[in-house]
Amino acid sequence: MLKKIEAIIREDKVNDVKSALEAIGIVGLNIFEIRGHGRQGGIRLSGRSGTYQVDMLTKIQVNIILSEANLEETIQTILDAAYTGEAGDGLIFVYAVEEAIRIRTRERGHEAVMYPGDIDERKKRRFINDGIPT
Ligand SMILES: Nc1ncnc2c1ncn2[C@@H]1O[C@H](COP(=O)(O)OP(=O)(O)OP(=O)(O)O)[C@@H](O)[C@H]1O
Ligand SMILES: [Mg+2]
Repeated sequence: MLKKIEAIIREDKVNDVKSALEAIGIVGLNIFEIRGHGRQGGIRLSGRSGTYQVDMLTKIQVNIILSEANLEETIQTILDAAYTGEAGDGLIFVYAVEEAIRIRTRERGHEAVMYPGDIDERKKRRFINDGIPT
């Protein structure tokens, strides 16, 4: 089963989140800049002509299509790396994904989102190493 994580995070947390994901072996992802607001409806800023409301704040959306088996570890990694404890830390949405197809090879499903040295290979290696008597 493939899932999609859509994580909406602070702009200044992008590098932290990207390197934390890299560290657990998440290889394929895409990000884009979005604008929106959550339950505070934006923020009030004070300028020379008084205070004004900015209702659409810039956030970064990180999209990852991955196997369900890697979902929880990936969510925990994002939660830790994107957290400040202040309002505006963001939200994580999870979707079911119908299909993924790598155009070059026509691989489908989880094969299409597997990469050399990724989270699955690391898990396999850990399993093999654990099985070797020392
Ligand atoms: N229901 C929603 N659907 C789609 N996008 C949303 C939704 N709620 C928030 N967003 C997006 O998520 C971003 C982050 O929201 P934010 O972190 O302020 O959430 P919040 O629910 O207000 O929580 P907090 O109280 O921690 O601020 C928003 O700027 C907006 O882009
Ligand atoms: Mg908010």
